Amino acid sequence: MKTRREFIEASALAAICAGCGAFNIGATRGRRPAPSETLNLAVIGCGPMASGNMGAFMKDPRVRVTHVCDPIAESSYHGYNAKTPLGRDVFKRRVDKFYKTTATKSVADFREVLADPSVDAVQITTGDYWHAIMGVEAMKAGKHVYCQKPMTLGVSEGWAMIAASKASGVTFQVGSQQRSAPEFRQAAEIIRNGLLGECRSCTIGLCYAHNDGCKQNYTRDCTPSPVPAWFNPKDSMWDLYQGPAEHWENNAYIPAIHAPVCWRWSSRMGNGSIADWGAHHFDILQWALGTELSGPVAIENVKTDIRDPNVVNRYLDQAKTYQFDIVYADGFRAHVGDLETIGFNGLKFHGTKGDLFVTRGKIVLPEALKSWKESDLKGSDVHLYHNVHANGCHEMDFTDAVYEGRQPACPVEIGHRSATICHLANIAARLGRTSLKWNPKAERVVGDEAANAKLVVKHHNGWSI
Ligand SMILES: NC(=O)c1ccc[n+]([C@@H]2O[C@H](COP(=O)([O-])OP(=O)(O)OC[C@H]3O[C@@H](n4cnc5c(N)ncnc54)[C@H](O)[C@@H]3O)[C@@H](O)[C@H]2O)c1
Repeated sequence: MKTRREFIEASALAAICAGCGAFNIGATRGRRPAPSETLNLAVIGCGPMASGNMGAFMKDPRVRVTHVCDPIAESSYHGYNAKTPLGRDVFKRRVDKFYKTTATKSVADFREVLADPSVDAVQITTGDYWHAIMGVEAMKAGKHVYCQKPMTLGVSEGWAMIAASKASGVTFQVGSQQRSAPEFRQAAEIIRNGLLGECRSCTIGLCYAHNDGCKQNYTRDCTPSPVPAWFNPKDSMWDLYQGPAEHWENNAYIPAIHAPVCWRWSSRMGNGSIADWGAHHFDILQWALGTELSGPVAIENVKTDIRDPNVVNRYLDQAKTYQFDIVYADGFRAHVGDLETIGFNGLKFHGTKGDLFVTRGKIVLPEALKSWKESDLKGSDVHLYHNVHANGCHEMDFTDAVYEGRQPACPVEIGHRSATICHLANIAARLGRTSLKWNPKAERVVGDEAANAKLVVKHHNGWSI
């Protein structure tokens, strides 16, 4: 009899569809609308990223946004500028106006959404600390899931999500939308097909160096404060917002980590900028290397300021500056650092034919490849998933996959592996290790039980998977 992990790995490997990035799945419990039917979508988490994803779904005539859900009805202290009114009632007004209706359901508790049989799919756009619990519950309820990246708060959550995905057979897309953009596909195809010559290394710069690094207006005030009115403390919205994240003493509201968006800067709710952007760029790294269903064998040369009292405190406990190497079994090494240290946001692959740089909306090829076009690829070359929609719409790839009964460009197994690299780097930083050896098959840190203990996410306040 197979262990659970062996079962998961066997299933993930069996699902690989060579070269095209599509994963075929069998019978499903989730409702798959016929081509003439609409896909009813509920938006869970009504913040700035939700706004972008929902906007893309609303443009798709196959999709109808029927529910918007957030414990916050409306907060003016929202958006990436801390000034945009957001929350479920703001979203409801927008959706109602778009469809010329008053029928969009505005719901505070996501469990009500999942219990509604009219909902076919959910968009999970909450902070990272909620993704796994909501994702698993949604899959158990037979809903297709578009879940934002990083898919998890820790490695064990990925195991649970993979198991739920396999058991339910629903379509699950991780919101790593770079995979649907042509510049990242071209970069990955060039590396996969050896067109950069011998390519043994890469440099990766990650954007947003802490909550004061992205010019947001959010406070860094860590004084325990009264819970703001937008959480409506009387009807437990404050508890529903925090969900499985460990409370501070007396269930205090700490402005610098509890205001919307700011959950990123507390390890109880997020994984800092290493995961915020690492989930994107490591996803592309693994795509280019063809390691998206396994991973590296070590994280080395870890250097961060995570123990510097001038940078972190017990609330804001994420690294601001960091460097580390991601090392693969064949010796390939990706050197990673924050934006200030590296000097760019994106990936630069170093090959014997020159450097290839890719970031959002831009790819810079070396002289030797200046005239290269994707159409130059031969039938026998590796052709990667190609999003066929205008502007590489990742959301539409999800909808295609729901209708076609398949997995989309970034299924749960891939999202798990990209997030795992972020988690390993954060674990090494937190434990003060300069390196960790990783067994990607067994998904264990080699010879470091303290690090292995940190693979497991502890959920609080009665929440569990
Ligand atoms: N793909 C990308 O490029 C990209 C960009 C930005 C953010 N993201 C991801 O999107 C997600 C959301 O990020 P954000 O910056 O919009 O965060 P945010 O904090 O502004 O928004 C999250 C929303 O979820 C709500 N929420 C909290 N608990 C909830 C619950 N129990 N039920 C329903 N809603 C709940 C919050 O009230 C908030 O409105 C994160 O996972 C983030 O990493 C992805």
